[in-house]
Amino acid sequence: MAALATGIATAKLILCGEHAVVYGEPAISVPFNQAIVKTDVTEAAETSFSSAFFEGSLDEMPTFLAGIKEITELILKKLGSQSVKIEVMSDVPIGRGLGSSAAVAASIIRGLYAYFEEPLSEKVLLDWVNQSEKIAHGKPSGVDAVTVVTGKPVWFEKNKSLELIHFNQKAHFVVADTGIPSETRSAVFDVGNLLQENPQLYQPMIVKLGNISREIKKYFETDLDVVQVGLLMTEAQGLLEKLTVSDASLEKLILAALKNGAAGAKLTGGGRGGCMISLVKNQENARKVADALQQEGAARVWIFTIGEDNQ
Ligand code: PMV
Repeated sequence: MAALATGIATAKLILCGEHAVVYGEPAISVPFNQAIVKTDVTEAAETSFSSAFFEGSLDEMPTFLAGIKEITELILKKLGSQSVKIEVMSDVPIGRGLGSSAAVAASIIRGLYAYFEEPLSEKVLLDWVNQSEKIAHGKPSGVDAVTVVTGKPVWFEKNKSLELIHFNQKAHFVVADTGIPSETRSAVFDVGNLLQENPQLYQPMIVKLGNISREIKKYFETDLDVVQVGLLMTEAQGLLEKLTVSDASLEKLILAALKNGAAGAKLTGGGRGGCMISLVKNQENARKVADALQQEGAARVWIFTIGEDNQ
């Protein structure tokens, strides 16, 4: 048994395909390594949990942590009945579409396995994270769990084998948090209702979102045409608005990004609050958009590049 063990996991960003992915269309999701979760596991007289969002014994954990509670109990039972202190330090904002629940789960699982000096395969880690996500979110597509566990850009289609994406060139993004918790659960539920009530109108939108992901993938893997990918992202945003998963807080930031030279912008993740993502040409452009988003009242802004160190 280690005296102190640490587990680390990164957040994720869905570049395109959210919501459509629930209905079998593809999504592109990448690790967002500017927001990470670190968990320290140490010996303790009683098993306890410490974090910015909850402090106390496992038994007292609030319902929004039910998934984490269950897998922690199961893992402790499986690996050793010894009590531990689990200390989670996270800079992934909770419930903002950045995969915080999957990242927290993955970092705790990694920390516990390291503490008990047990090997942990990617498959076992993914099974645990999926189990926790199912309790936290009902019926997640699984895209968050896969991105967080692999730590690689993924082309994700439900019930299909995983494909990694290789970015041929650097792509620069500016990500901003509205500061408002995303309502993923109700947004997913409402899209389901729209599809049931009026499939003629809404089903083609889901297919179109899938086709946008297919087109964007080609650009990322060959020649990145920033203008075209930007237009596709903004087109996806229009469809997500029609599917009622956007809101005024996101649209205000999306407009500010576009007005300040972003090639395209859209919500990322569940929507209705949470985060938006914009594609920019270069670092200079990124700084201008980031300043504008800050002035527009974003709670946090990140400049993010894919295609260098995270694939
Ligand atoms: O809000 P997040 O980070 O949980 O992302 C949800 C993505 C959805 O496609 C809306 C739902 C899902 O299960 O894939």
